[in-house]
Amino acid sequence: MQYNLDVPIIAGNWKMNGLINSQKEIKNLINFLKNNKKNGNVIIFPPFTLISDFKRITINSNLGIGAQDCHYEEQGAYTGSISPMMIKDAGCTFVIVGHSEIRESRNESSGLIKKKSENCHNNNLITIICVGEDYECRMKGEHYNFISKQLFESIPTTANVNNTIIAYEPIWAIGSGESASSQDIKLMHQHISDYLMKGKIFNNKIPNLLYGGSVNSNNSNEILSINNVNGALVGGGSLDSNEFIKIIQSI
Ligand code: PGA
Repeated sequence: MQYNLDVPIIAGNWKMNGLINSQKEIKNLINFLKNNKKNGNVIIFPPFTLISDFKRITINSNLGIGAQDCHYEEQGAYTGSISPMMIKDAGCTFVIVGHSEIRESRNESSGLIKKKSENCHNNNLITIICVGEDYECRMKGEHYNFISKQLFESIPTTANVNNTIIAYEPIWAIGSGESASSQDIKLMHQHISDYLMKGKIFNNKIPNLLYGGSVNSNNSNEILSINNVNGALVGGGSLDSNEFIKIIQSI
């Protein structure tokens, strides 16, 4: 699957879910995409254990496969880690970096996310760099500054609109069943777009911006129609292929 910059992105982050029998969900998606030529980039991020198998069955399909995280180094004594070079070798095109669940549980700084992303770019991988504030930060009204800082510190100089996608995922909306309001999404995506433009971070261009946090088939139409929202990063709603197909149909 070739990343097309000019059409929306629907990305499914399976997190720590999926076994070999989840092939049926992937086959269902492949069939849907074959028979309904949707003008979008559809990508699944399975756990590492399923990447090779899913790559094999998605070859020649319109479904992209990516990794949910990576190490910042190329190789070495890092037990339990997977490097961008290995992810590329397994056939992936995309990598999510800086997901809040990883930033929080492993106490990862934006500086580390930047290093991961840079290494991915050096391996010709496209990164989805995630940013998002927690509830407390939003309640204090510090969310715009917080996101600007995360962007500034997480985006490497190797980034361009062809190899980088930004995902705004407010932590308080992830897995809560309740997405951010259309107004909150609109204002934050406008802020991100203005910030990246003013800082000339992408050379007077804006990369694709995704929203993530409780996207489902009931709210996807509305969310995808918001200004500066070029797609969605979907967690729970991507595990069942029929639900995920309904989300894809909102493109
Ligand atoms: P959710 O997860 O759709 O289950 O809220 C989104 C994400 O964490 O990427």
